[in-house]
Amino acid sequence: MNNREQTLSIIKPDAVERNLIDDIKKIFISNNINIKNSKKIHITKDEAAEFYKVHQSKPFYNDLCAYLSSGPIVVMILEGENAILANRKIMGATDPRKAEENTIRKLYGISIDKNSVHGSDSKENAKKEIDFFFKD
Ligand code: CMP
Repeated sequence: MNNREQTLSIIKPDAVERNLIDDIKKIFISNNINIKNSKKIHITKDEAAEFYKVHQSKPFYNDLCAYLSSGPIVVMILEGENAILANRKIMGATDPRKAEENTIRKLYGISIDKNSVHGSDSKENAKKEIDFFFKD
């Protein structure tokens, strides 16, 4: 059955800083995920706070927003069959120590904060997150 979806992916500051953009993009492509749009940007802490609003009650919210705005990031629209779930599998668990072998976070993540990538967790959030970065 066909279920072509779009999802938002972010390559976070720790991975951009270590020149991992191409390596991470190659992983998506080799998993039949098409990178429909991609841009390198540097967001403000206020923009990060808006993006991560769903986490505003969490104890790590302030650090999370400071971190996402600490350096350049790459935001991408990924497209493919069941892309939302596929991207989550390709990324691996939030905590790199718990991520499966060969996932992006296992390969490149440094810690739960510096976990190299973000991906939308549902159809609803994928739409919101894509609009956040690509609607102008
Ligand atoms: P991400 O998928 O970008 O979504 C929210 C981020 O919060 C998550 O990846 C982690 O980098 C970060 N984070 C920091 N601490 C925690 C925690 N205890 N549980 C979940 N996410 C955390």
